[in-house]
Amino acid sequence: MKKEKIRHIAIIMDGNGRWAKKRLLPNKLGHREGAKVLKKITEYCDEIGLQYLTVYAFSTENWNRSEKEVDDLMALLSEFLDEYISNNDKNNIVIKVIGDKNRLEKSIVEKICTIEKLSENKKGVQLNLAINYGGRDEIVRSVKKICEDVSRGKVREREITEKLFSSYLDTKEIIDPEILIRTSGESRVSNFLLWQIAYTEIFNIKKLWPDFNKKDIDEVIKEFKNRNRTFGER
Ligand code: FPP
Repeated sequence: MKKEKIRHIAIIMDGNGRWAKKRLLPNKLGHREGAKVLKKITEYCDEIGLQYLTVYAFSTENWNRSEKEVDDLMALLSEFLDEYISNNDKNNIVIKVIGDKNRLEKSIVEKICTIEKLSENKKGVQLNLAINYGGRDEIVRSVKKICEDVSRGKVREREITEKLFSSYLDTKEIIDPEILIRTSGESRVSNFLLWQIAYTEIFNIKKLWPDFNKKDIDEVIKEFKNRNRTFGER
């Protein structure tokens, strides 16, 4: 068994809708249960000493869902941020948001700023919430920022390397994930962390996100240790 330390897990939390449908519950309650599970999994990742947990909470494509579902998700997000703001003293968790904040409501952006500031010096796991996030969008935004810096003379074209490019992404200062988990049996990457998952090990879990638990994290970590992780070399 390899001893590689796992520092970063990314998760596509899929299946909230199906979970609710199976129980004849409104879709909103599936997302609500999903948010509860996210809190538990974050606590567990903190307990096991993980450095980063990055989750896909709202994608750039999710705006195309019904107005009601978008409103429900934004309300849930707002509640989620409020809870972390009021319980800030009771946990060890750092919260950061990745994605384009420009399209988010002002009240949500303010809550994001508040929790990012309140939690920035904590020593526990860093929960990166991907909100209005799309991997392609992140790459395009980064290209634009580099172009601006080139035109201002801050960066020269020959200085553009993979390392420099990474430093323009929302995930600058965060190492690439060793593990990407997708629940609910789907095998798509769905525009999540496209640049960052170049060599990430992908785990497809059959369970729907609201049924996911800490034992599933343990099993993924155990399987990761048995995989032969390579980076294109022999
Ligand atoms: C996919 O399930 C999940 C989402 C679109 C959103 C993920 C959100 C959460 C887990 C809850 C809230 C998180 C925060 C931070 C508030 P789906 O609805 O696409 O599932 P389905 O494919 O079964 O319909």
